[in-house]
Amino acid sequence: MKKIMFVCLGNICRSPMAQIMFQEIINQNKLNNKIMVDSAATSDYEIGNSIYQPAFQILKQNNYKNIEHKAKQINDQDFANFDYIVGMDKQNIINLKQMCPKKCLQKIHLIYDISATPTNEIKDPWYTNDFQTTFNQLKEILPLWLQKLINELS
Ligand code: 4NP
Repeated sequence: MKKIMFVCLGNICRSPMAQIMFQEIINQNKLNNKIMVDSAATSDYEIGNSIYQPAFQILKQNNYKNIEHKAKQINDQDFANFDYIVGMDKQNIINLKQMCPKKCLQKIHLIYDISATPTNEIKDPWYTNDFQTTFNQLKEILPLWLQKLINELS
């Protein structure tokens, strides 16, 4: 079993979108018993809240179902449990590295780390209001993460 956790600032926009979109490609590839995805926030701002309405809408428009979500903050158990902790932007990475137990530091990656443009990031649609760009970026990058995890299954 490979486990990946997507992380953003609030866990109501980018990382739940990533989780739901990644779960969909896990399902399509029948990898439910081999790959597990979850999401969390670096902050405590939105704990317990649902996915933000514009994020919900763009997923719904694109035919995603089961868009249920309750925001949570990453904790030490998550750092221990997950194989990959994947942040959406560079500030997420700075925050994660400050929160992370030393022995888990190597698990932290920027979402574009594994792409041809490793310094790119997914800007916060909470501020840009551009949920279409968030969706397009995730649609492009998530299959690379799935392929990486598939390659690592033993
Ligand atoms: P996210 O967006 O990190 O993509 O979930 C945000 C959501 C809420 C806040 C900031 C960013 N906030 O400040 O409450």
